[in-house]
Amino acid sequence: MPSLDDIPRTIWWQDGRVMLVDQSRLPLQGDLLACNTYEGVCQAIKGMAVRGAPALGVAAALGVALWATTEGADIDDIDAFLARLDEVAGEIAATRPTAVNLAWGAERMRRFAHDNADAGLSELRDLLVQEALRIRAEDEERNRAIGAHGAALIEPGSRILTHCNAGSLATAYYGTALGVIFTAHQQGKVEGVWVDETRPVLQGARLTAWELKLAGVPFKLITDNMAASIMRAGLVDAVIVGADRIAANGDVANKIGTYGLAVLAKEHGIPFYVAAPTSTVDLTLESGDDIVIEERDPREVLGVTASGVIEPDSASAQRAFDALTENGPYTVPIQKGHQMVIERKGAAYRFDGWFRVAPPNIEVYNPAFDVTPAAYVTAIVTERGVVRAPYEEALASACCGSGAIHEL
Ligand code: MRU
Repeated sequence: MPSLDDIPRTIWWQDGRVMLVDQSRLPLQGDLLACNTYEGVCQAIKGMAVRGAPALGVAAALGVALWATTEGADIDDIDAFLARLDEVAGEIAATRPTAVNLAWGAERMRRFAHDNADAGLSELRDLLVQEALRIRAEDEERNRAIGAHGAALIEPGSRILTHCNAGSLATAYYGTALGVIFTAHQQGKVEGVWVDETRPVLQGARLTAWELKLAGVPFKLITDNMAASIMRAGLVDAVIVGADRIAANGDVANKIGTYGLAVLAKEHGIPFYVAAPTSTVDLTLESGDDIVIEERDPREVLGVTASGVIEPDSASAQRAFDALTENGPYTVPIQKGHQMVIERKGAAYRFDGWFRVAPPNIEVYNPAFDVTPAAYVTAIVTERGVVRAPYEEALASACCGSGAIHEL
C-alpha cells in the first residue's frame, strides 16, 4: 500500500553532521549526502541537493549549528565566536538569492546566538543545535497546519494542477502545496492532480511525481506547455503552488512558469492558491518588483541532466563496468560537449550525464523564478489561516499578530 510515510525525511542531524537526501538525483538515485562542514551545506544548497524555500530555511539553520560545533568549537572567545558566526550566517544566506526562508533561517540562528551569548560557549553550541532542530520541527508543524487550512478550500472531486515541487522534499516534511493536496486527498476530495514537469530542472517530473506516487495520490504528469489546453478543456478545478518569497503587497515569487499559470487560471475562472509558511513572507519588500530573481547555469536550458543506476544484466557486462571504474569515476567523452560519468556504487554503477539539446555557442536566459502579481492570487494559505486581498493588511496581521487568523 502506498503511504505518505514512504517519503523520506529531507534533512536531519545525525552524529554531529547534517544529513540530507540528494534531490539533484532523485528519483533514480536515492543518495544521501553527509555534510561535515557548513561549506558542505553551502555546496548542497548551490547544487540543489537541498532545495525548496522552507527546506532551505532548515538547511541554513542546521548549517549554522554545524559550524558552531565544528569550526566554531575551536573558538573560545564569545565575541570572536559571534563575529565569525555572523559571517557564516551571511555566507549561507547568500548561497541562493530568491527564497527568503534561507536568509530567515540563518538570521533566526544569528539572533538566537546573540540573545543567548551569556549561556557560555559550550552551552551555547548545544543550544544552537537545539534551536536548529526546533526550526526543523516547527516547519513540519506549520506544513500540517497549512494542509488543514488549504484542504478546506478544496471542493470534493477536485482536479488540481501544481507546478514545481512544493512537496515534502521542499520542506522539512509534508510540504506546502502538496501538503494541502495530501490532506485533501485523505479527506477524499482529490480526483486527480496535474503535475507540471517544470523545465528546466524538472522538479515536477522528478520530485512531485515521485512523492505523489509514494503517497498513493492519483496524478498525471504533463509538460509545462500543456496546462493551457487542459484548463480550456475544463479539466482543472484549482491551481496550488508554493512560494519562495511573498512581498508585503501579496506579489509571489515562485518557480519560473508560475506567473503564466496564474494568468491562465484567471482567464479560465480557476482559483489560484499559494501555500506558504509565514517565514516566506518578506514584509520588508513593498512589492514583487524588489525581489531578486536567481539566474542559473545556462546548461540547465541548453540540455538535460540525467542520473541513474546501471544494473548490468550479465556477468560479462558486469566485468566491463568493473574494468571501466576500477580506478575511480570514469568520464565518458561524448561528442559536442556531452559528458557522462560512470562510477562504482556498491554492487551497481552510477551514471551522471549532461546531454546537449541546443546547438553550441548560443545565448541563454535562465531565470529560476518569476513574480505573480497579487491580483492573480485567489488566496494565500499560511499556517495561521487563509489570507485574501487586500494582502497588505492581511499578511501583516498573519506575520506579526498572534493567534490564529481567519478569513480576512
Ligand atoms: O529552485 P527550487 O527547486 O528551490 O524552487 C522551488 C520552488 O520554486 C518551490 O515552488 C518553492 O520553493 C516552494 S517549496 C514549498
